[in-house]
Amino acid sequence: MTKKFAVIGNPIAHSLSPEIHLAFAAEFGLEITYERILATPDGFHDTAKDFFTSNGVGLNVTAPFKQDAYKFVDERDPQSDASGAVNTIHAVDDRHLGYNTDGIGLVADLSRLGWTLPGAKVLVIGAGGAAQGIVLPLLDQGVELSVVNRTRTRAEALRGQFPNIKVFGFEELSDGWDVVINATAAGWQQQQLPIPGTVFNDARCYDLGYQRDGRTPFIQQVDTQAAETSDGLGMLVEQAAEAFHIWHDVKPQTKPVLEGLRNPKRQFIAGAVCPRCKRQDTLYIESDLQGDATLRACHACGYSEDIEGNVSINLR
Ligand code: ATR
Repeated sequence: MTKKFAVIGNPIAHSLSPEIHLAFAAEFGLEITYERILATPDGFHDTAKDFFTSNGVGLNVTAPFKQDAYKFVDERDPQSDASGAVNTIHAVDDRHLGYNTDGIGLVADLSRLGWTLPGAKVLVIGAGGAAQGIVLPLLDQGVELSVVNRTRTRAEALRGQFPNIKVFGFEELSDGWDVVINATAAGWQQQQLPIPGTVFNDARCYDLGYQRDGRTPFIQQVDTQAAETSDGLGMLVEQAAEAFHIWHDVKPQTKPVLEGLRNPKRQFIAGAVCPRCKRQDTLYIESDLQGDATLRACHACGYSEDIEGNVSINLR
């Protein structure tokens, strides 16, 4: 029987989770559906309830509902308890089990990158929900952890929960970090962080934010100083793999899926004319891991447009 899964958030239209989970399912020949569900800001509880009463088996939860999900579930794993947030729900025998796979995903991706954690001086920028979710998994790796936040009192609140961390305000920051992790929402607003470039000198810099080409605002900000950089697309795939494991009891391969997300298939459309720059033969269609067209774009002028459903091309 086809099992039903989904990701819930707001916004949700650009979530890559369906693409990732359907690719994992294909590896094992599993028949699943995986939808995106948009909930209103105060509508998480009812929307999630509807999903499970209509035979939903598993739900991934993204911003801004991870704390709502924490309250919604009947049982929580230790990672959820440490972060006060749930990103994966599994319905088992009428009970909703809550997990948080974000931390495991981050550690797995840092390991893929070969960034050594035990003994490393690690700076987390941000003290909101995303930061709270990664503190314990990083401490468990034996790092020396500092947290810096625009609002210092929020970082201090985090130290109340994890007394082993050091906290700073932006203006107090020194240099000399092995790994710097951006857990702020600044990039969502296309903003750069008010932190001097020297802080990133020779550090390996990781952004929990991601985009297919990896060039997030944070990565662009630190690129010239950092020793190495990575956005969080690998973490997204790894946390999804952990959720998949919880639901299906098998561990999918993550490398081919990450490579597929980074390098979507492009097919140029002979004769097509770009609606913006009017050049011919420069338009291409990009397809996702399932082969469905997702984007129409122009190689020459950078025009790009999301595709919903049918593709129509202006052929001269
Ligand atoms: P999330 O769940 O994504 O962490 P959040 O709990 O609202 O969302 O936290 C957002 C984080 O990004 C906070 O650390 C916030 O700093 P403040 O506590 O000072 O608000 C940080 N943040 C958001 N916009 C920022 C900006 N433009 N510059 C620096 N930090 C920013």
